[in-house]
Amino acid sequence: MAHTERVKFGSKLGIILATAGSAVGLGNIWRFPYMTGENGGAAFIILYLVCVFILGIPCMISEFIIGRHGASNVAQAYNKLSNGTLWRIIGFMGVLTGFLIIGYYAVVSGWCLQYIFGSAAGHLKGDSAYINEYFINFSQSTWKPILWTIAFLFLTHFIIIRGVQKGIEWASKLLMPVLFILLLIIVVASCLLPNAIEGIRFLFMPDFSKVTSDTFLGALGQAFFSLSIGMGCICTYASYFSRDTNLAKSAVHISLIDSFIAILAGLMIFPAAFSVNVQPDSGPSLIFITLPNVFLQAFSSVPVVGYIISLLFYSLLSLAALTSLISLHEVCTAFIHEEFRLSRRRAALIVTLTGSVIGAFCSLSLGAWDGLQLFGKPLFDIFDFVTGQILLPLGGFFTCLFLGWYVPKKILKDEYTNWGTLRGTLFGIYLFCIRIVCPICIAIIFMHQLGWI
Ligand code: PHE
Repeated sequence: MAHTERVKFGSKLGIILATAGSAVGLGNIWRFPYMTGENGGAAFIILYLVCVFILGIPCMISEFIIGRHGASNVAQAYNKLSNGTLWRIIGFMGVLTGFLIIGYYAVVSGWCLQYIFGSAAGHLKGDSAYINEYFINFSQSTWKPILWTIAFLFLTHFIIIRGVQKGIEWASKLLMPVLFILLLIIVVASCLLPNAIEGIRFLFMPDFSKVTSDTFLGALGQAFFSLSIGMGCICTYASYFSRDTNLAKSAVHISLIDSFIAILAGLMIFPAAFSVNVQPDSGPSLIFITLPNVFLQAFSSVPVVGYIISLLFYSLLSLAALTSLISLHEVCTAFIHEEFRLSRRRAALIVTLTGSVIGAFCSLSLGAWDGLQLFGKPLFDIFDFVTGQILLPLGGFFTCLFLGWYVPKKILKDEYTNWGTLRGTLFGIYLFCIRIVCPICIAIIFMHQLGWI
């Protein structure tokens, strides 16, 4: 297998859309708006963008370098560069993190499917107590959320087994433009509402009095999660890049697309929320409880518009979640396919079934089997915490140290400049970032999140 030419993405556009598809997900449309809502609006966005540029882009370039150099699954890619030293553990950690994220991400993705169905069938109508109850009853029931989780994982499965070009690249080229159009339609509808200007002002006029050390660290963590950095998604996709892909430029393009979509998501949610005087709430309740209410109230004069917007919104969320879940699935599938020498189909089935089992436990832990707790919290919350706040930052931290201080500089320079065919003007800055700036910043987030500083 090692001697056959590795499959590649077919075009530059395919590379950008597939990688942006991994990055654009629930993190942009659900997490970013509520983080912005809690942290002073525009002030948070400015900090977030600073983090994307000083931390996200160098980390993404690093994963690109490891992935393209390794031309294999994430565990093997780190293994090749580590010469059998302990650094290779970072790659295995990526696969483990992938399985854990699939577990709870697929559950939330399943909720989105239920909400598409709920909006289409006209079930999301009623007063706010009813909408609240609808979410609680559904998310805490035994079978329904599990079935939706499994359905979502099988949807992902069928795309994955079609392969890199006919599956992942094809789906990204189709879904990303649709996602963008849906987003634009809802942004326009939301910004045309009475009093929408308040929401727009909130999003673009910084209020620095709300900035605390938590805001800064929250922005760093969000940049990480949103760009899919620290667990091998970016690395696995880069193993399908061709030799003439400009890694630094692609990282900049993908980060810009991801940030732009996050800001558009803010423009979709805040004007509508402010127009009906609803404060952007936090957590899952923002998109599954607050927003259905906002849509009902905001478009109460023409209910059919509210009905359509709600349907479009949950379709948008599902598409965003799907392209991210594809990338998570691919990390694990490529690993099992190559390391255990199983066919791609079999490997994908193992990932889908394992993901379904982990997802089922995560879902049950939210209510139906509330004994499924660790350290006093549901399994779902523990997986979210352990991956987002521990494993991703750790993966990014060690990746920067590994590339910056262990791997020969020549390999980095060759990959960065496509073997001398590009000028690589910013290579020095990139190296400084991964050697010094990124490890220090990530160490600070990490220690803060653990409550050490
Ligand atoms: N970036 C994705 C999002 O914004 C989440 C994700 C994290 C996907 C890590 C893959 C790996 O939703």
